[in-house]
Amino acid sequence: MEVILRPDGESVAATAFELVLSALKAKPNLVLGLATGNTPLALYRRLREARLDLRKVRFFNLDELVGLGPRDPRSFQHFLRANLLDGLRVTPGNVRLLRGDADDLEQAAASYEAAIRKAGGIDLQILGIGRNGHIGFNEPGSSLGSRTRPKTLEATTLADYARGFPAGKAVPRFSITMGIGTILEARRLLLLATGGAKAEPIRRVVEGPVTSEVPGSALQFHPLAHVILDEAAGARLSRRDYWKWVYANKWRVGQ
Ligand code: F6R
Repeated sequence: MEVILRPDGESVAATAFELVLSALKAKPNLVLGLATGNTPLALYRRLREARLDLRKVRFFNLDELVGLGPRDPRSFQHFLRANLLDGLRVTPGNVRLLRGDADDLEQAAASYEAAIRKAGGIDLQILGIGRNGHIGFNEPGSSLGSRTRPKTLEATTLADYARGFPAGKAVPRFSITMGIGTILEARRLLLLATGGAKAEPIRRVVEGPVTSEVPGSALQFHPLAHVILDEAAGARLSRRDYWKWVYANKWRVGQ
């Protein structure tokens, strides 16, 4: 695991952008896994502004709320199109996003796994971290070997997502999400976290024991996982000085 501590959210995005760019240069037909949420927004803005030709890139995403179709403004698919994909030069056939309105979610999950395999596997997966330590919508207790499947959401997650829903309108209680096993098969992982609310989950992900109670801690098994944090999200790490020293002495990110 490589932990990179940056002063603020914009520098987190700049470092993540540099890493994504180097992956795109090395492999123009990169298979890129996207995350939804507030954390990657600054990175997505940089990707849009860079006006890159990403027509060869294949895109997948981590998760979706069950019951929401792609045109629903609260769906993750809509979020990713509005905040990233619609502003990029991409090939529509190369974009494969999970659908929350599938009739048969188990079947949708199996065909999603098959599509990832057909694309040759995910090269670079962008991740955020939930307050409860989830990655994707793998809530605490999820099997560390889990695959894409429907998953029941936890109360903290429902509370966090309730903000995007009109008052009185319930947040979907179920998601469809890549599993932890699916995520760990990506060749490279890029976990971003900003803000003090992420300090404790990040401490448990980076320094805690590997446990399904903190799904993000499974990243400790991955051979190439970058964890990019701002000062607030890294505030509870006991070896902050070590990580800063490592990064300061590194000649290029991600090599
Ligand atoms: C979203 C996802 C979630 C989020 C996490 C953090 O696709 O998989 O795991 O990454 O809930 O969300 P934010 O970034 O909004 O704090």
